[in-house]
Amino acid sequence: MDSFTVTAARMPELERRITEHPDAFRVLTGDRPTGALHLGHYFGSVRERVRLQQRGVDTFLILADYQVITDRDIADNVAESVREAIADYLAAGLDPDRTTIFVHSAVPALNQLLVPFLSLVTEAELHRNPTVKAEQLASGRALSGLLLTYPVHQAADILFCKANLVPVGKDNLPHVEQTRVIARRFNSRYAPLFPEPEALLTDAPEVPGLDGRKMSKSYGNAIALSMSDDETAAVIRRTRTDSERRITYDPQGRPGVSGLLSVAALCLDETPEEVADRIADAGSGQLKRLATDAVNAFLGPHRARRRDIVAEPDLLDEVLRRGNARANEIAEGTLAEVREAMGMGYANAVRAR
Ligand code: TRP
Repeated sequence: MDSFTVTAARMPELERRITEHPDAFRVLTGDRPTGALHLGHYFGSVRERVRLQQRGVDTFLILADYQVITDRDIADNVAESVREAIADYLAAGLDPDRTTIFVHSAVPALNQLLVPFLSLVTEAELHRNPTVKAEQLASGRALSGLLLTYPVHQAADILFCKANLVPVGKDNLPHVEQTRVIARRFNSRYAPLFPEPEALLTDAPEVPGLDGRKMSKSYGNAIALSMSDDETAAVIRRTRTDSERRITYDPQGRPGVSGLLSVAALCLDETPEEVADRIADAGSGQLKRLATDAVNAFLGPHRARRRDIVAEPDLLDEVLRRGNARANEIAEGTLAEVREAMGMGYANAVRAR
């Protein structure tokens, strides 16, 4: 059995433990700020984070701005992407009093953990990470030192706050495994400081985009949460379907039709087959109208909250300022413990003076 299967099998029992003892868990989760959040983010991760917060789990949410430059030269529009993401988190129901939202670049002590952590892994281990390999191939570029080592950086994201629960999709599972290895090695080499975090696999389906491929801004097949009703109608209208009147769910044979059915179904909380049966012989024009109405009705309240949030002066900056401050306080505490454990407590003494 591969580690995905093993981890997936543990989920019901993990869910039970979270429900019984939400206060025994600290969650860290994250996104790369690469553009506006879309429905794939919403159904894939944001909704699950809101649920965890509501169950009473202490939650940290990192916008991994340094991770943006793993597979590209520059972090284009990163400031705007960070603001857009925070607006969507708040509109979706994440509460800055309960969820600490922060960025890599504002937390120096977190980044400093990378140095000892890098000493705990081998080059061969880093090269074996299947997600890193896939990202490098997709980038069409040479493997950068940062791309090779970002799973270790991600371990610092998780361990700086001693998170023990990491909600991730399948892609990020190898990084949680790497984090467990780093925690274990640090604990046995120096002092038992870190929990071995568990992955919480979200059972959310991968949300297909309007062309049937995975929803992604770079494929141009995404519906951003922040779009207007008209913009939503326009992207849906542009979807390539076919002239077959009977609407059926067939992801292989009819990717455009099936992508629209999936998106509508998620928004209506139905199955794609049920939506298809409802449209029956009314053709893809009717499918597009139904999908547009479903998305706009579903996102209406989110978009209204988002408009209010964005209109409030300084709100987004203030949320990030507070999140960064809390993350810094915790990261400095952990770094002080790490230095102490490594026999470098003198560095803490210098800091305290
Ligand atoms: N790699 C994650 C992604 O691309 C984002 C991320 C950064 C993250 N640091 C993290 C996820 C720590 C979980 C834990 O989606």
